[in-house]
Amino acid sequence: MSKITSSTLLKFKQEGKKFTALTAYDASFASAFDSEGIDVLLVGDSMGMVLQGHDDTLPVTVEDIAYHTRCVRRGIKRSLLIADMPFMSYATSEQAMTNATALMQAGANMVKLEGGHWLLETISKLTERGIPVCAHLGLTPQSVHVFGGFKVQGRDSDNAQRILDEAKAIEAAGAQLLVVECIPAPLAKAISEALTIPVIGIGAGADTDGQILVMHDVLGISSGYIPRFSKNYLKQTGEIREAIRAYIDEVAQGIFPGSDHTFN
Ligand code: KIV
Ligand code: NA
Repeated sequence: MSKITSSTLLKFKQEGKKFTALTAYDASFASAFDSEGIDVLLVGDSMGMVLQGHDDTLPVTVEDIAYHTRCVRRGIKRSLLIADMPFMSYATSEQAMTNATALMQAGANMVKLEGGHWLLETISKLTERGIPVCAHLGLTPQSVHVFGGFKVQGRDSDNAQRILDEAKAIEAAGAQLLVVECIPAPLAKAISEALTIPVIGIGAGADTDGQILVMHDVLGISSGYIPRFSKNYLKQTGEIREAIRAYIDEVAQGIFPGSDHTFN
């Protein structure tokens, strides 16, 4: 059982093998997800909502992410561990380097940052200095107040073209992975085909190289709003490990996400 690295994910993409990612925030869930075969675990700043009970991800700090990264790290044997860089922790590339260092030293294998063209220099700097970057485009929740709500992005052709251009620029800057969130499926497909690096989708249709979900949605314990693109696998299985296996199987077989989980 060799460890998943960015090279493994690249190979999965080249072989057309769909892979799965899930958020995790503690050692016990991380260990269960890792041992059932989830390839990528993300210490997401979604913790602001699902752990801390806020309405958005903005209150999360670098210390919050670092603490949960240390917890998740202790549960992992195989999965790649990505840590989210929280709101305003990478506003300048100097801040990005300091804060990404803290997250790597907490046990992350890669850091994730939300944004496009303005981040290119930061992506190069981090990568050149030994910190692999996963970029995040589309509905980037740290910008929810700029978007005026959690809304699907890239619906009109100008915005779709901008997101596609940003995806290409991000790859050229050195990013090794890309998350696309809540964009129309045809746009996610075009991005996945245009890029060499693997693209992980959430609310982005079935044609990305991998899928990611928030664990609380998969296990049906999110309070309040449950996104339409998500799926409660605990409901259909009744057991946590079986739910995780069902998610992995459905992604591998192209069953999830189906049309009712997709924006067109
Ligand atoms: O914070 C998070 O959980 C995320 C995923 C939804 C991609 O960024
Ligand atoms: Na996030």
